[in-house]
Amino acid sequence: MKKTIIVFAFALIAACAPVKLLQPTQADADRGSQKFPGFSLSELNEGKSIYEAHCNKCHRFKVPESRDEMKWDMVIPKMAKKAKLDSVQESLVLKYVVTMSTAKTK
Ligand code: HEC
Repeated sequence: MKKTIIVFAFALIAACAPVKLLQPTQADADRGSQKFPGFSLSELNEGKSIYEAHCNKCHRFKVPESRDEMKWDMVIPKMAKKAKLDSVQESLVLKYVVTMSTAKTK
């Protein structure tokens, strides 16, 4: 019984913990620039800021590494419309999530 309560308490804490977003590094920007020519770390961080400001209003953050590029290509146009992003913001968010979807989590 006591064990059940402890397990339950931990589950509750885990569910409420804020979603952790990886801090983009130069290595991430370099990897991204192979896909998006000229892509820089500052653009990557800009994409992250837009994502942080708009993408947890209706649901918790769906972290970049939770989906692959193909999935993000389908989801972002839909969500950009929901979040009322302009086309520049949409493109930065797409580049951010696609680049960070393959980031090393450690
Ligand atoms: C106005 C509310 C709203 C905003 C803002 C919003 N979303 Fe969503 N999102 C939803 C709803 C509702 C769903 C579930 C239904 C659906 O898939 O359309 C969803 C689902 C998702 C999914 C899962 C879709 C799937 O098929 O796996 C992802 C990923 C996602 N959102 C990412 C984002 C990102 C990234 C942003 C920021 C650009 C964002 N959302 C902003 C409402 C929103």
